Amino acid sequence: MKKNEQEINALLMKYRFAMQMIETEITILIQEFQEIHGYNPVEHKKIRIKSKESIREKIKRKGYSYKASNILKYLDDIIGVRIVCSFLTDVYDIVSMISESSNLIVKEKKDYITKPKDTGYSSYHLIVLVPIYLQSGVEYLSCEIQIRTIAMDFWASINHKISYKFKEMIPDEVKKEMYEYSVIIKMLDQKMLKLNDTVNKYKSENKKEISM
Ligand code: GTP
Ligand code: MG
Repeated sequence: MKKNEQEINALLMKYRFAMQMIETEITILIQEFQEIHGYNPVEHKKIRIKSKESIREKIKRKGYSYKASNILKYLDDIIGVRIVCSFLTDVYDIVSMISESSNLIVKEKKDYITKPKDTGYSSYHLIVLVPIYLQSGVEYLSCEIQIRTIAMDFWASINHKISYKFKEMIPDEVKKEMYEYSVIIKMLDQKMLKLNDTVNKYKSENKKEISM
């Protein structure tokens, strides 16, 4: 095997270690959240490692050659975590929880909820550095965490399928319509949050009655 390929394989092994670390860390943080708030904010979560083919394609697209040092330096989403929550407030609570974790270092925060992408894409992205403990010492590898509501996830999933169908060359009218739906999604998220507040108010009033 060529030296370059060996170095890439060695680096990918480190990313697999980092994937185990972040998975454990996030699972614990969510359980802690559940303990404090009394409910599970996570509808579902997913973790994946980028395939060699996707790594090769992305690093070339960015204008760098396919080698371990460039992958480490220029790609921050070799490991991807997606956390899908029920409510808007859950997204921000999870962002705070991850930011406060002493086991992770937040390198970058991108709030595409307050400021969506031109497509209408909405989500909160964090780039975190995950420590891995090797015989030779500690190393930090980056990981992209996407946090969004179920409504945002619904939009992103359909948008992804459409982009794939058109191989990124989406007709303007389809783009426009997709953008309009992102506005509806945003409104729906705000309405659901308000409804949840109302439900919680009812619950706490009923509790008072019961205790009287
Ligand atoms: P990359 O070069 O791909 O990393 O893009 P970037 O650095 O400009 O954006 P960022 O890293 O913040 O977000 C990239 C990721 O967000 C993608 O891999 C997708 O998962 C998601 N994403 C960004 N824009 C869109 C979009 O318009 N539609 C969908 N479905 N997903 C998007
Ligand atoms: Mg990126």
